[in-house]
Amino acid sequence: MIKSLNERGKDVLSPVLGRYFTEFEVSSGKGCYLYGRDGKKYLDFASGIGVTSTGHCHPEVVNAIKKQAEELIHTCIGIAFYEPPVILGEKLQELLPSKNYSFFFNQSGSEAIEASIKLAKYITGKPHIIAFKGGFHGRSLGALSLTTSKDKYREGYTPLLEETSVSFPYPRCYRCPWNKDPDSCNTYCIDAFEKFIEPVSSKTAGIMIEPVLGEGGYVPAPEIFMRKLRRICDDKKILLILDEVQSGTGRTGKWFAFEHYNIEPDILAIAKGIASGMPLGVCAAKKELMAKWTPGAHGGTYGSNPVSTVAGIATLEVLKKHIHNVQESGSYALDVLRNNLKEHRFTGDIRGIGLMIAVEFVKDKDSREPYQDLVRTVMNECLSRGLVIISCGIEDNVIRIIPPLTIEKKELERGLDIFLAVLNENS
Ligand SMILES: Cc1ncc(COP(=O)(O)O)c(C=O)c1O
Repeated sequence: MIKSLNERGKDVLSPVLGRYFTEFEVSSGKGCYLYGRDGKKYLDFASGIGVTSTGHCHPEVVNAIKKQAEELIHTCIGIAFYEPPVILGEKLQELLPSKNYSFFFNQSGSEAIEASIKLAKYITGKPHIIAFKGGFHGRSLGALSLTTSKDKYREGYTPLLEETSVSFPYPRCYRCPWNKDPDSCNTYCIDAFEKFIEPVSSKTAGIMIEPVLGEGGYVPAPEIFMRKLRRICDDKKILLILDEVQSGTGRTGKWFAFEHYNIEPDILAIAKGIASGMPLGVCAAKKELMAKWTPGAHGGTYGSNPVSTVAGIATLEVLKKHIHNVQESGSYALDVLRNNLKEHRFTGDIRGIGLMIAVEFVKDKDSREPYQDLVRTVMNECLSRGLVIISCGIEDNVIRIIPPLTIEKKELERGLDIFLAVLNENS
């Protein structure tokens, strides 16, 4: 009897990794599709958790990786300069509104967050970093100190960084932490935040926030909240650190979600969709801030890796041809979902920005009690019909729709059809 990879993996792989599916095995991927070891073709609406922004194995990205792998895989940027990270920096600089940023490249979102925390503390000389309850910023110990989307991520690891605070709730209008009505609250949340920060502001190096809450449930922060947060940071001389690991690199229809708010960060963390699946994280900061980070104060063996950075360059080139479609595709998907799920008993909130879309499931529309079991059923039934779709949410009751940004309308329609058919059977 042939053992499944799950069975074989039990002997050699750590059990620590949480899994969305246990028996889903793939052998390859192309465009919007994953090809299963069972011979089936799966439409991928998960994109490796928001990573394969150009789809699987985009030929331009693959060619860039192949070519670079034949020339130079590693020598450490601390030993010798090579061109790809410099080109990637130049390209990113062009994309950012004020063109006034420079970059530290590493391997992951968590490392981009670590670098952001260290940079903020180092250059301000202040100890505290404030983040929002419900946020996800990664799992390395510094990043974990700011991660609160689920208790289990932190259990067993305390004490974490002492000089952080994550007690102020993320402003989620559908589940307003203060039970206010978003239509009449008059920005209660940001006024409350201003009072919260006052006593610690002189010790606070930076405030970190995901402009669109990711693992916490795909919730865009209210516009006025982000604008006033920027103003508070300016007034109190605190650095605004935006975590765009999930919302960045075109996912929301703009290169970065902060552009929707007409603000700019002091420090910006990027990863996931930037390199189509090659490990690449970026800590971006205003040049005058980066200039205060003295040589040797941070570093790493693999940072600025030639293969990862060429994948980043190729990814940006591909996305330049598709980014204008992202908002349109996202609005189309949102309309389809809202129109078809109006009467569905268990869909509480349907929201999204670009191709970062969420359907939140509730047992009852009045009580809004989260319906986690249904999310699990929907994920499994979609998978059995050839659609990969995954969950998120502080309450674990949200399905997120994050297809590749290169997706064509017919594939988007096909995936939505499968999702809606599964929901109709579970209404
Ligand atoms: C907003 C955000 N920040 C940080 C991270 C951590 O990134 P990584 O898993 O690459 O370390 C994630 C990962 O999901 C994320 O969504």
